[in-house]
Amino acid sequence: MDRRNRWVSLSYFAVIVSTFGIGIGLAAQAHSAKAPTPAKKGQTDWAYSGGSPGNVHYSELKQITTKNVSQLQQVWSYDAGEKGGLETTPLIIDGVLYGYTPTQKVFALDAATGKLIWKFDSERGAVPARAERGLAYWHQGNEKRLFAGVANYVYAIDATTGKGIPGFGNNGRIDLRENLRGEPQMQSVSITSPGVVYKDLLILGDATPEQEPAPPGDIRAYDVHTGKLRWTFHTIPHPGEFGYDTWPKDSWKTNGAANNWCGMALDAERGIVYIPTGSAATDWYGADRVGDDLFANTLLALNAETGERIWHFQGVHHDLWDRDFPSPPTLVTVTRNGKQVPAVSQTTKQGFMFLFNRVDGTPLFPIEYRKVPASTVAGEVASPVQPFPTKPAPFARQALTEDLLTTRTPEAHQYALEKFRTYISNGQFMPNRIGQETVMFPGYDGGAEWGGSAFDPRTHIIYINSNDVGLTNALVKRTGGSGGKALYLTQCATCHGEHMAGSPPTFPALTNLTEKMTADQIVALIETGRGRMPGFPTIAPAQRRGIADFLLNGDTTADTSTGPVVYGTTGYKKFLDQDGYPANATPWGTLNAINLDTGDYVWKVTLGQYPELTAKGLPNTGSENYGGPVVTDGGVLFIGATVLDKKFRAFDKATGKLLWEAKMPLSCNATPATYEINGRQYVVIACGGDRDPATPKGGVYVAFALPEKK
Ligand code: HEC
Repeated sequence: MDRRNRWVSLSYFAVIVSTFGIGIGLAAQAHSAKAPTPAKKGQTDWAYSGGSPGNVHYSELKQITTKNVSQLQQVWSYDAGEKGGLETTPLIIDGVLYGYTPTQKVFALDAATGKLIWKFDSERGAVPARAERGLAYWHQGNEKRLFAGVANYVYAIDATTGKGIPGFGNNGRIDLRENLRGEPQMQSVSITSPGVVYKDLLILGDATPEQEPAPPGDIRAYDVHTGKLRWTFHTIPHPGEFGYDTWPKDSWKTNGAANNWCGMALDAERGIVYIPTGSAATDWYGADRVGDDLFANTLLALNAETGERIWHFQGVHHDLWDRDFPSPPTLVTVTRNGKQVPAVSQTTKQGFMFLFNRVDGTPLFPIEYRKVPASTVAGEVASPVQPFPTKPAPFARQALTEDLLTTRTPEAHQYALEKFRTYISNGQFMPNRIGQETVMFPGYDGGAEWGGSAFDPRTHIIYINSNDVGLTNALVKRTGGSGGKALYLTQCATCHGEHMAGSPPTFPALTNLTEKMTADQIVALIETGRGRMPGFPTIAPAQRRGIADFLLNGDTTADTSTGPVVYGTTGYKKFLDQDGYPANATPWGTLNAINLDTGDYVWKVTLGQYPELTAKGLPNTGSENYGGPVVTDGGVLFIGATVLDKKFRAFDKATGKLLWEAKMPLSCNATPATYEINGRQYVVIACGGDRDPATPKGGVYVAFALPEKK
């Protein structure tokens, strides 16, 4: 039996039976798992994108069970009729489902029938911004408000009528580009996750570019009534603020990012909001930000009322690897020495899970600070140590070695081996070098991703899906300059690659643009961005035209500028074999169940298939997956997420056994939701085909339920 098969069979059969501590943890947990509205009989809402303010992704519903889940039927589907993809978890409140279309229109449906009630159009047009993963909801008396992020704006919408609320912000919306530093029009920010509502505050992060210039990732709280800014937490500290000395002097004026793009968790009872941040710009190079760079790559626990810091944990010091905290935290309860401890779990792109006491930040599994390699790049000072949790074991493999290369075919193995021998592979935290590619395993898309985890408060088991695909990267010297090519290399090559080959399907190649786009269209796109491409309002119009000219006609003008030397990247390049499959051995995607009382794995299975490999008799490869799981008291775990096989699956939460799967119109890179209306349990998921190169991206929501009893 080869390594892969042994691993797969182990994962299916080595099921450790967990002790069901029913009732013990539930009372402590209830506040973070309960819906806000007094539920009518036979009605259970899903009023938070993560299922609860603490992102528990859990439901007490149990009409759908491990025994009957195989009878699930589609009861309705709603096709927004737009291109562009979807990553949204809808809200279901009082029998109404609220979601986004691919171009960020907001809609309300009858959640039992899928019939459209209203649609809200911010009139931003048909250019999809970054994917919006959810809406936030606030209510008081009969007043019900939805807060909808659309690019750099947040709109307040009357949940009953679908009309904008003119008294909120500037004529119904706030602009996240305001109150940063400098001219609002020059800021590139957009919202991707719903933030949280605490009392009368809407607390928000945002997405920024990953290279300079980027605005600072300030965390901001707005008044839900008026849209007025109530507090700001500087993730790049100002003079006198804690952490200021972890950056060069005055960094707060020039450095950017350290932003929260993946969502937050709220402990409403204690008034604490948990906010994970991403790396500081520029992702791969930090000579202009020597120091630990607090509060980049940090889990922040802030006083939700005031924005004051209570505790923090930095997961990567002076990040040089784009190791953002990628997942919203999950509020959990664990048993320690017979006591119930309120805790917060934070997963990482590396495949680590950190667990802390929610109140004071004490690690609940010891964290070791281990020595890591130094950088060889001029001016770069990598952190000498980085934190490693001693438990649970990583849920993704973290060091690529020759015996972990693909065995899909002998040719693929040989190809991967030859490539691999030209790379540096030295586990986590190996700083990139100039002129030689370094392996990053797992790659920049995790490990864990933005879908987050599900937690079962009855068993204290957490469920985490993970990617297991490597990537390579090297640094290249660039002279900053204002010519088209120089700007392309400093601003665009990160994603589209040094030679414009991109990293399809995530980042398109720009090699044959002449057939697709005019110079004017490229100039417009550079300003606004689209989907995962940020806008570049800081690049002046003439320079945008210079880039367009370079993209369409090649390097025609000599760049005479002599800017300072900076280091760029050769681009995000997945380590693939000659046929385009991951060059590391399977599994390429997994689903993991970990008991948080012990830190031990309960089970681990592969997740996802490559349809054409399945047809050739290789079904259990796993694949990349985006979008989280949901776990229920019916004993079922629901997950879509897989990028290629268009499947929505149900697993037995106790054993990891696959119980049911449905073929969907598009792959479902989103977290599902489950709810109940008139005593009937539904499960719904958004399908947009976001990362599937084989199908055009769309936007369909599909709901399932058991057949109605006659
Ligand atoms: C953070 C990654 C990222 C950066 C940086 C980036 N892009 Fe993009 N770009 C993308 C993505 C993702 C798409 C696909 C957008 C979509 O989903 O429609 C894209 C699409 C494009 C397209 C359209 C390609 C097509 O085939 O339709 C062009 C042209 C383009 N980018 C040019 C640029 C230029 C010029 C720059 C630098 C000023 C740049 N990009 C910087 C990620 C990036």
